[in-house]
Amino acid sequence: MSSLQERDRNAVWHPFTQYQNAQPLIPVARAEGALLFSGDGKTYIDAISSWWVNVHGHAHPYIAEKIAAQAKILEQVIFAGFTHEPAVRLAERVLELLGPGFAKVFFSDDGSTSVEVALKMALQYWHNLDMPRKKIATFENAYHGDTFGAMAVGARGTFNRPFESLLFDVITIPVPVRGKENDSISALQRVLADDDVAAFIFEPLVQGAAGMVMYDEETLQELIRICAEKNVLTIADEVMTGFGRTGKMFATVSRDDEFDLRPDIICLSKGLTGGFLPMGLTVCTQEIFDAFISGDQQKTFFHGHSYTANPLACAAANASLDLFEKLETRENVFRISRRNTDFLEKNRNHPALADLRCCGTILAAEFKTGSETSYFNDLSVKAYAFFLEKGILLRPLGNIVYLMPPYCITEEQHEETLAAMEEFMNVIHR
Ligand SMILES: Cc1ncc(COP(=O)(O)O)c(C=O)c1O
Repeated sequence: MSSLQERDRNAVWHPFTQYQNAQPLIPVARAEGALLFSGDGKTYIDAISSWWVNVHGHAHPYIAEKIAAQAKILEQVIFAGFTHEPAVRLAERVLELLGPGFAKVFFSDDGSTSVEVALKMALQYWHNLDMPRKKIATFENAYHGDTFGAMAVGARGTFNRPFESLLFDVITIPVPVRGKENDSISALQRVLADDDVAAFIFEPLVQGAAGMVMYDEETLQELIRICAEKNVLTIADEVMTGFGRTGKMFATVSRDDEFDLRPDIICLSKGLTGGFLPMGLTVCTQEIFDAFISGDQQKTFFHGHSYTANPLACAAANASLDLFEKLETRENVFRISRRNTDFLEKNRNHPALADLRCCGTILAAEFKTGSETSYFNDLSVKAYAFFLEKGILLRPLGNIVYLMPPYCITEEQHEETLAAMEEFMNVIHR
């Protein structure tokens, strides 16, 4: 019998993997809390929540039980013409969490499809009103997923070069990082002088895949305000930032926010099901929904996936929301965020770093690299191996090494990860 790695090599094609120089795969036998246990007896702290999804820890018994119970009642049903309680409850709860202004929840499969749905909703909204608008405004260096619409509103580059000629044009504005706030605001004002802009899509407060690029809430509110003034729809892609990542439940809204500073559409996924099952949500206002109600069939939103609102994924999401209601979860988010801030204060001037930043549970160290700062920077290979050797899973984005742990990470595991980060900073500086 050949090893799991050999069988994998013979049968599987992994994502984001260049097979010419691929490292051996780590077979994971089981996982619990923040820990992954490999088949060869090693243990890893999953300090990136397995691609940012696993918010409450692995194999959480409560979520597992709820999925198992649901599987015995209703595992799947077509979601056109039929409905079920877990989906309705989830939609009601998400609307309640998002607060005033949001009215309808559309289900899809993952982050990319939640973005596809948002873009199609926004474009068809204008089409249905007989005021067609074709342009989408985005931030520079954005990442919204790997399907075609999501790629089109993301940065052009290595990841989508073969498809570039097929991606629709978008208008980009600078990200309002510190010192560039006014550039961003005036660029948006210029862009919106053209009345063909249907929507502005953005990753609120943190651009994840771009390298955990952070900007402040006041500027974001100003950008949303400008769009509202020009009657341009705003789409907050909270696929990564949603469910506590930035220290609060959602980056763009809290229930006390001013109503008029809210986006029109919000995309959610990743932490939604606690990292158990794939699911995406696109949440919109009543005004958008109403534009699709008509005696004219052509105004229908013709979008759906086989597994739309899968009951097992809904059960996982409902269970995950139950856990968010526990004080312990909120305390954990607070504890991680506060410790990140302490780490930042202590290390912000470390000579190995060009920048150190944090936003809630996300901590990102940007290393000085001389010239090359791309995703394919050598530093990322070095850092990945360094942390794995120490039993910590991190997946740097080029010269940016970041932590985005599950909220159940223990104080000791968090300290161990931060200590390893400091050690790596010193190794690079030497
Ligand atoms: C902000 C954002 N939007 C969309 C996506 C795409 O999500 P998925 O990988 O689930 O398709 C990602 C994935 O990292 C993301 O960070």
